[in-house]
Parts: sequence; structure tokens; C-alpha cells
Amino acid sequence: MSAYLVEPLIQVAYIFATALFILALKWLAAPATARRGVLAGEVGMLLAVVGTLLHHEIVSYQWILVGFVLGSAIGAPMALYMPMTAVPQRTALSHAFGALAAALVGTAEYYLHTPQLSRFTMVALALELLLGSLTFTGSLMAFGKLQELLPTRPVTYRGQNVVNLSLLALAVASGIYLVVEPGASHLFPVFVTLGLLFGVLLIIPIGGADMPTVISLLNSYAGLAASAMGFVLDNKLLIIAGALDGASGLILSVIMCKAMNRSFTNVLFGAFGQVQAGAEAKGETRTVRSATAEEAASILEAASSVIIVPGYGMAVAQAQHKVRELYDALTKRGVDVKFAIHPVAGRMPGHMNVLLAEADIPYDRLLDMDAINPELAHADVALVIGANDVTNPAARHDRSSPIYGMPILDVDKARTVMVIKRSMSPGFAGIENELYYLDKAMMLFGDAKAVVGDIVKALSDGGHG
Ligand code: TAP
Repeated sequence: MSAYLVEPLIQVAYIFATALFILALKWLAAPATARRGVLAGEVGMLLAVVGTLLHHEIVSYQWILVGFVLGSAIGAPMALYMPMTAVPQRTALSHAFGALAAALVGTAEYYLHTPQLSRFTMVALALELLLGSLTFTGSLMAFGKLQELLPTRPVTYRGQNVVNLSLLALAVASGIYLVVEPGASHLFPVFVTLGLLFGVLLIIPIGGADMPTVISLLNSYAGLAASAMGFVLDNKLLIIAGALDGASGLILSVIMCKAMNRSFTNVLFGAFGQVQAGAEAKGETRTVRSATAEEAASILEAASSVIIVPGYGMAVAQAQHKVRELYDALTKRGVDVKFAIHPVAGRMPGHMNVLLAEADIPYDRLLDMDAINPELAHADVALVIGANDVTNPAARHDRSSPIYGMPILDVDKARTVMVIKRSMSPGFAGIENELYYLDKAMMLFGDAKAVVGDIVKALSDGGHG
């Protein structure tokens, strides 16, 4: 095909890809349109890849094909077999590879075109390399911590911030020197090494508990690295897609920080590393009331409004389909059933929405925290399924609690609280939940899928009460 025809074709593909990326982000924001959002993103990416493959700079497809086959051989099994609860670490790996690609492209551009690169291109190249290299090692560290290949506790030492900031300052200074003196190629490996080292040191002081927020931030850095790469390669699609990635990662980090009551400045500068307080021994023995599935069934059946609060345990047990059966059984009996969705329930943003959508629970039954909290005070039953921290009333009043200030679902305000979990073990924050000791609370000990299944069975048998 003639170059006159190909160039406009590439630009058209890029414009459509850009529009689809923007629409994907918009549609992904609501459960009802999320599937369409995923599809739009996929089609957009396909157009972007096809458009890029048409570029006249490509002289041979051989190595591209090798990369494509290798990448697919690694990526496809990862997508198919990695459990949903491991998505945060999978995401960390994708960021690591994306950032590495940006850093490698930057390195190739530097060595191939150094004397000809304009000052502006050198600035973009330095940014691309710094963000790419620190995001690469930072994301690998985050993966290691989440996968528990590395110690999850924060590793801190005296003067850590000074060391980190000095290292960053050195990296920035060598980047600036390279911009001014692009020919100083002996400095180039030093610059990249400083970036790689900074990525490691940035993540070391951060505890596993805060890793998902950090991953979202690293996502933002990887996006900005790609955007800078777009300026280096003069590729408008990369500039826009990278900027979208950078901005959405940043917005998500801010949302997660708010929902977990973390300081965003601390996440941004990697300075937070306070050890999560463990479950404190209270020095007193308190008792909880445990109940059977039959007892729970009879209370649920007699209720007029039930609010289900899903959490991480529902994801672990893969109980969403049983929960759907329970929803059907209760709705059939005229009970008004709604779901309360906390923004950080589970282990990744939107975790509960994805699971409940998989089980075809109607979207209009899923209510966000702000919408459902006023309703919880009037609910007959709050049925907590594998959620813990997001229901802990200590967050509202106990200043000594590590989760103090985190917005929670006001489950304790419902007339009766039922909690399905396997034991009295704490949740993610490692702290006790005073909810379980309330007089109105009843514990249904067991695996979420099995217990919900038993309740459904008891409802259908009708042999309870
Ligand atoms: P958690 O506080 O982690 O509590 C989950 C509970 O599920 C545990 O207490 C556990 O108790 C129970 N559980 C585990 N496996 C179970 C099973 N098979 N059947 C029944 N129960 C089971 O969960 P949450 O309330 O959803 O809160 C999420 C936490 O993760 C918050 O602290 C949040 O800040 C944090 N976090 C969230 C995110 C995002 S973006 N969602 C990211 C990072 C951190 P047993 O062991 O007794 O069963």
C-alpha cells in the first residue's frame, strides 16, 4: 500500500482508538455499562496495535511475531488461571512489564539517535527513563510483597527519607545533565541504575497492607512513562493513552486513600510505613453468640428488609452464586434485599461489583456506601458475608484503632446483624471487630459458600423456626 494511503489510515485508527479508550473509562465507571467498557477498551487496543503495525518504520515483522507469541504464551495463561483474589499482584506485574518496555524503548532511542535529539525530546526521554525504570523495580517489589515472596512488613531504617530523597535528587540531576549534554553517554547507565534503585527503595518502607494503593499509583507512573515515550516517538496515541492511564491511576489512588483513610501525600512519597497494629489482647474474655443456618433462615424469612454486605471472604469462598440463590429465595418471599458495597471491600477496586455481576445480581440492587448507610438503620437484618474491616465500628470512634477515620458501612445500626465467617480471626487490618460482640449480632461460623448454601437449603426445606 502506498505511504500516502497508509499514513491517514494509521491516524484514523488512532483517532478511533483514542475515542474508544475514553469511552471505555466512562463506561467502566458503572456496573451496568462495565462490560461495554471492557469491550471498548479491547477494540481500542486492537485498533492501536493494528495502526502501529502499519507504520512504515517497521522493516520486518519477524521479531514482532516472536514477541507476540512469547507475550501471548505468558499472558494468556496468566489471565485464565490467576484467581481473582490475585489480581492486584497480576496488575503489578503488568505495570512492571509496561514500564520496562518504556525504559527499553527510551534506551534504544537514546543510543540510536543521541546527537540528533532535540532538547525537548531529551527532556521527554529522561522522564520516560526515570519513570519507566523506577516503576519497573517498584512494581516488581510490589508484586513480591503481595505474593509474599518478599517480607510484607515495612522495612524502615533511620534516615530512610533522606537516603531516598538524595537518591531521587541524584537521579534527577543526572537526567538534567543528560538533557543539557546528551553526548555524556557514560552517565546514561548511571542514570538508569539510579532510577531502578530508587524504585526498590521507594517500596521497601511500604507495608503489604498499603500495596494495592501503591500499585494504583505505579499504574499512574507507568502511564506517564508511556505518555513521555509518545513525545519521544512523536506518537499521539501513546501520549493520550498514557495520559489517560496516568490520570485514572492517580484518581483511583486518591479514592482508595480516602476509603482506607490513608494520607495521599504519604503514598505519593513512599514515606508511610507504619506497622499495622496487630489484634490487641484486650485482657478480657468476651463472648459472641453463634447461630445455625436454620435459625438464620427463619429470621431472614420473617424480615421485610435485608441488606447483604459482601467482603473479601465471599471472594475467597467464591460464594457469589450461592448468594444469588439466597437473593432469589428471599426476594421470592417478598423480602426486600439490597447489597451494600464498600469502595475497598475485598482486595481490589470494584471487587464486589465484579463478583456480584458474575452471579447476575441486578445492578440496581447494589448500593454504594453513601447510598446504603442511611438505609442500614432501618434494615431488619444486615447479613455480613466474609466482610470484616469495612464493618468495624471502631473506625468511627476508637482513635487508637489503625482504621480510625476509615468510612465504614453502618452495619451495627441494623436491627439484627448476622456475620458469616470461619472463625474469630481478624480481617486485613489485623484488628478485632467489636461488631461481633454486640447483643444483636449472631455469628454463623463456616465457609461462606457452605453457610449460604445451608441457609438457602433451610429456606427451601421450610423445616426451621
Ligand atoms: P477483611 O477485613 O479482609 O475480612 C475478610 C474476612 O473474611 C476475614 O475476617 C475472614 O475471617 C473472612 N473469610 C476469609 N475466608 C473466608 C471464607 N472462605 N468464608 C467465610 N469467610 C471468610 O475484608 P473486607 O471487610 O472486605 O475489607 C477489605 C480490607 O482489605 C480492608 O481492610 C481494606 O482496607 C483492605 N484492602 C482493600 C483493598 C481494595 S482496593 N479493595 C486493597 C487493599 C486493602 P475468617 O478467617 O474468620 O473466615
